[in-house]
Amino acid sequence: MAKLSPLHEDRLLYAPKLPGVLAGNISEVALTQGNPTEAVANTAEVAALFPQTYGAPMVSFTKGSSQLNTEAIHIGVILSGGQAPGGHNVISGLFDGMKKTNPNSKLFGFLGGPSGILENDAIEITDELLKEYRNSGGFDIIGSGRTKLESTEQFDTCIEVCKKRNISGIIIIGGDDSNTNAALLAEYFAQKESGIQVIGAPKTIDGDLKNDNIEISFGFDTACKTYSELIGNIERDANSAKKYWHFIKLMGRSASHIGLECALQTQPNIAIISEEVEAKNMSLGAVVSDMADIIDARAKAGETFGVALIPEGLVEFIPEVKVLIAELNDLMAHHEAEFAKLDTLAAQTEWLVGHLSSAAGAVFTSLPENIKKQLLLDRDPHGNVQVSLIETEKLLSEMVNVELVARGSKPCKAQHHFFGYEGRCAFPSNFDADYCYALGYNAFLLIASGLTGYLSSITNLSAPATEWKAGGVPITMMMNMEQRHGEKKPVIKKALVELDAAPFKKFVEMRSTWAKETSYTYPGAIQYYGPSAVCDQTTKTLALEQA
Ligand code: FBP
Repeated sequence: MAKLSPLHEDRLLYAPKLPGVLAGNISEVALTQGNPTEAVANTAEVAALFPQTYGAPMVSFTKGSSQLNTEAIHIGVILSGGQAPGGHNVISGLFDGMKKTNPNSKLFGFLGGPSGILENDAIEITDELLKEYRNSGGFDIIGSGRTKLESTEQFDTCIEVCKKRNISGIIIIGGDDSNTNAALLAEYFAQKESGIQVIGAPKTIDGDLKNDNIEISFGFDTACKTYSELIGNIERDANSAKKYWHFIKLMGRSASHIGLECALQTQPNIAIISEEVEAKNMSLGAVVSDMADIIDARAKAGETFGVALIPEGLVEFIPEVKVLIAELNDLMAHHEAEFAKLDTLAAQTEWLVGHLSSAAGAVFTSLPENIKKQLLLDRDPHGNVQVSLIETEKLLSEMVNVELVARGSKPCKAQHHFFGYEGRCAFPSNFDADYCYALGYNAFLLIASGLTGYLSSITNLSAPATEWKAGGVPITMMMNMEQRHGEKKPVIKKALVELDAAPFKKFVEMRSTWAKETSYTYPGAIQYYGPSAVCDQTTKTLALEQA
């Protein structure tokens, strides 16, 4: 192993805090069942697709007499999708919960994501191995991947592999798509009476896997703090040199939670929130015009610099581009072979213009060549456009400068940045280190309670960790039906930024001041040691939501 930095060495020794209800003896943890649940929408369709697991009750853990199964068991764990700080701690919490209950239990880590289970490629996770990964960022202990587990053949292979390894529980650590697959797997296993349980853990820096019972997905806290440090540094540079406008694209496949949180932390001059663009039905031209207004006004006041935050998923929220992308997705899914034969952009454009609606065709032809190419790149395994590859920050700065010149103003000097991968593997903040450990420990307790098709849920997160609550949410409860790959499928509903909720309202209250006045705040680097007010802070989003 490479030489560890002093911080790395020290973080390995950090003891994550558990919610009071889970701390102490496992024999004192009791399960309480709530009322049966319903899907968030399309209830009849979702219920029909999940006859075994639909309608299960919410559950919570309390102090009391335990009914947990304490026999030795084998569990398999899978890291799925994009990295998020804290994944190693979910595994640590799971491992510690298992071993504390029965030292003969074994944890297997499937390698490289969901494909690991299909290929029966796994390692046993031991205390020795974990010692090198506790409280560290990354998913490298077993690796991650984006293979989608969705076909009956795949599900049957999973059963075979689990039987070979005597595995009776699978923990899937993933985002909305991966946990949708966890629900499908749980349902299939139940239908086949395989005796294998499936529990999910809510992961994604994007922050869009959340609801009343999943207050935040893990990794969001650390990723936003990492980006906010970098944005603050850029703001200070901008305010020192007073010559550049920085166009910063921030990761977040669809929702703008990251952009909103970073805006609240750093007070930039411009922050676009995709959900607002969609709600106001703003065209690309209108977004550009609003940005040009701010840049122009600042220049006229002598401030020829600034910082603009742009969410990665923006293009999919601009109505005319959204229609274009939906049509492109359907065409590319239904004419895959035919489309693959077109080997130049000119040939692809000609074919597309013949197949797209006239409005979508006109939008496509109006886009710069690099953006056209980026929109046609391979979809991810869930059929989504890979928005991280679309250079929206460059598209907007180019269009803003065209607009400024058309108004008779000077173009701005643009610098471009994309912050995404920088934040996904940072050392988890104390919040994420504690939260992830609790999620993993709790996931084991859900397995030991005999449950399947649930997401591990830790709530009351703006309180100190010892006051957090623990339980489980049936995954089918978060589902609705959506169009994917040209077909209607049951999926976990993405939580977008709510325009009537406190975090967005706070932003709206402040943004015109931030646009005019230079009122940057510099969050600095994540602190792991020191006063609690500095190193145990949650995100501003969570604090405002729970205020
Ligand atoms: P998950 O939803 O799997 O957590 O991944 C989110 C994300 O980090 C997005 O923000 C980004 O668009 C995407 O992954 C990038 O994917 P990749 O790692 O495959 O480039």
